[in-house]
Amino acid sequence: MQTPAPPTPEVAPVEPPHRIVVRKMGLGFDDLPRWWLRDDPFGTHLVNGLHFVFPAGERFFIRSVRNYYTRLSRERKAEVAAFAAQEAEHQREHLACFEAIEAQGLDVQGFIQWYEKLMYEHVEPKVDPKVRLATTVALEHYTAVLGEFALTSDLLDGVHPVMRDLLKWHAAEEIEHKAVAFDVLQEIDPSYPLRVQGFAVASLGLFFFWGAGTLHMLRQEPWSHRLPTRQVLGYLLSRPFRTATRRWFDFLRPGFHPNDHDNLHLATDYLRSIGRLTH
Ligand SMILES: [Fe+2]
Ligand SMILES: [Fe+2]
Repeated sequence: MQTPAPPTPEVAPVEPPHRIVVRKMGLGFDDLPRWWLRDDPFGTHLVNGLHFVFPAGERFFIRSVRNYYTRLSRERKAEVAAFAAQEAEHQREHLACFEAIEAQGLDVQGFIQWYEKLMYEHVEPKVDPKVRLATTVALEHYTAVLGEFALTSDLLDGVHPVMRDLLKWHAAEEIEHKAVAFDVLQEIDPSYPLRVQGFAVASLGLFFFWGAGTLHMLRQEPWSHRLPTRQVLGYLLSRPFRTATRRWFDFLRPGFHPNDHDNLHLATDYLRSIGRLTH
């Protein structure tokens, strides 16, 4: 008599590792209103000031990481290529958006030219390549944290649809590739003081130019608007903002890795919801 085969133990399906996918969005900004954030000039220009620094910043990230390309492992090289391709798409869409803002009679290029010349012609060449890479790592951490905030707070509810699409897509991809530059730095020089130095440079540069870009835009408005103080306070006290603040400073913990923050599902949920998870 044949002995019955033992039941096959149930094996949990193994999730394949998440791939960084390059998506061409082709967003159109032709009907972008001047105050695209709920008709609020302050909020609009606060976010404008932030994304004005992105395109040149993204080119800087690509340069800083590619500088070490030949020294990287094969697996890392593939990630860097996908990371650079995603950043290139981000800057393409943001630049198209800037043209639409300028078409409304607002000056954007005056700020961009000043910022790019100062930061990337005068400052960047004087900075050690490893510090440039560490700065990129810290800025990538900032964009991932801001990305999580964009996908979890109600900041982008009710904004013009094309800006919502631009900022949420960008947010999702920043979360998707958040560990690439960090892992490159780990392969090149995992020194903790270097990482902290990058964080200091990144924080100084980001908040300075973000503030300058915002002021550049607000100065162009006939300032009869009231500051939405209550709304700003609401955001500062909100749970997503408090989480973002904790996440920011977690970067300074020795042993930190971007994947310690379990937020990839936010990116995949959003990308799935717009039918762009895989392409
Ligand atoms: Fe980006
Ligand atoms: Fe990025």
